[in-house]
Amino acid sequence: MAIKEIIKMGHPLLLEKATSITEFDTPELHKLIEDMIETMDEASGAGLAAPQVGEGIQLVIFGHDTERYPEDDSVPFTVLINPIITPSTKETEDGWEGCLSVPGMRGLVPRFKKINYKGFDQFGKPINIDAEGFHARVVQHECDHLIGMLYPLRIKDLRFFGFEDTLFSE
Ligand code: NI
Repeated sequence: MAIKEIIKMGHPLLLEKATSITEFDTPELHKLIEDMIETMDEASGAGLAAPQVGEGIQLVIFGHDTERYPEDDSVPFTVLINPIITPSTKETEDGWEGCLSVPGMRGLVPRFKKINYKGFDQFGKPINIDAEGFHARVVQHECDHLIGMLYPLRIKDLRFFGFEDTLFSE
């Protein structure tokens, strides 16, 4: 296992579309996922997308991190490949997000309240999950990385974008 460097907003790879994965259960894929898990844990993240570690492929991992998001424990650890997200409602809700590629910042982002997501795990086993709330938010955030979309681009009102230590300093 190895901790990877997380690339930051401003790097062109974060604005590119990731390519789909055609080969599952390979040593290279397992190694990358192990490294991504270690990298996400070390950074206390709730999720990490392959482009954030310099790999432009459709792979994300996510799962609850109790240190960073103590208020919520609803996100099961998941490896998700070639994801397809379908909103289950038109309803959106605003929530604060951060991103390991945008360190120190938080922004208020609208996301669909309920979604269905499909894809595959690292062995090629199909995934088909209905999610809502924070779980749905995390999946939408991570999968956005695969279409070159960073959360600041989704903020509706940039007054609600700022440094975490200042926004939440009360
Ligand atoms: Ni992110």
